[in-house]
Amino acid sequence: MAKFSKIGVLTSGGDAQGMNACLKAITHKAQEEGIEVLGVVGGYSGLIHDQFVDMNTKSVANIVGLGGTFLYSDRCLEFQTEEGMNRAVEVCKKHNIDAIIAIGGDGTFRGATDLTAHGIPTIGIPGTIDNDITATDYTIGFDTSMNVTLDMIDCLRDTCESHKRCNVVEVMGRNCGQIALETAIASGALAAVIPEVPFDEEAALAKIKQCREDGKRGMIVVVSEGVIAPDGRKFGEYFAEKIEEETGIETKFARFAHVVRGGKPTVRDRVTAAQMASAAVDKLLEGKSNLVICEFDGEIVSFDINFALITDRMYKNKLKDGDLDKFNDEQIAEMKKICEKRRKEINDLYHITNMYY
Ligand code: F6P
Repeated sequence: MAKFSKIGVLTSGGDAQGMNACLKAITHKAQEEGIEVLGVVGGYSGLIHDQFVDMNTKSVANIVGLGGTFLYSDRCLEFQTEEGMNRAVEVCKKHNIDAIIAIGGDGTFRGATDLTAHGIPTIGIPGTIDNDITATDYTIGFDTSMNVTLDMIDCLRDTCESHKRCNVVEVMGRNCGQIALETAIASGALAAVIPEVPFDEEAALAKIKQCREDGKRGMIVVVSEGVIAPDGRKFGEYFAEKIEEETGIETKFARFAHVVRGGKPTVRDRVTAAQMASAAVDKLLEGKSNLVICEFDGEIVSFDINFALITDRMYKNKLKDGDLDKFNDEQIAEMKKICEKRRKEINDLYHITNMYY
């Protein structure tokens, strides 16, 4: 068992509900193992600029149910420079930090793998509302953000029904449509528009017209923010205008934006955060690093961060020359399997959204 006496923990990228629950669990688990924990304030930028706070069972008391992140977050460009990285490594050495646990999305994991390569063992935990890390079935924050989104759609449905209107709702998710798909299904929306599947605009307009002819009053269409319209605007805004023009049905547009990144984390997010936190500390104790903790087929597992990042690129059709060179045939086959599983999940959900009227 590797002996760590002090670890650093940070949250980076877009905040997500459940990050605090994760920080609390890391602190408790580490203390139980006799490891001191330093919180890095403001993501990787805090590492470069020597911003720390002591983490102990007292300082993390009562944060488990809070949204946001107690350590604050940042998208740090300086960390991507050699100078920024060297400074971060120096700061870690100055504080005798033996390892780092970084909670965030794919940008956070790129930073984590660079830190490991520079001699600071690092482990990543997926925390982003988008659920867009291909190697894990789940990212902390996804469930809460969907529930916040759903509450807001339900509110819109009330007023749409009263006023006989259609409402197009744009939800977050970056290039991943899963928040849109699941909230569309859960709210009985008429259609979901996501980046992963081509959208048949004409068919959707015909369905809306038909629904109105059949007497339907209120109608909801959920659009993921990553879909771009033919005129270059975000699709939701464009499609709301199009519906009104083509069908004559009064149509409003709502962009939920960052609202859905806030609020009290659900049980799912708090529990998964604790499970992933515990696994991350265990892996460090086993002497492992450069891993990302994942949920896969209902189990908490870990993958090498590079494997996870390249699987992600494969899924997003963004593989670069040489990306697969470091992996053997078995690993590449595993990546393909993970991508297929993810595509199937998205397509199956999309198929379900089509059945609602
Ligand atoms: O990755 C999480 C996320 O909330 C995305 O859904 C969204 O596209 C992006 O972050 C917004 O980023 P920012 O907080 O920098 O505006």
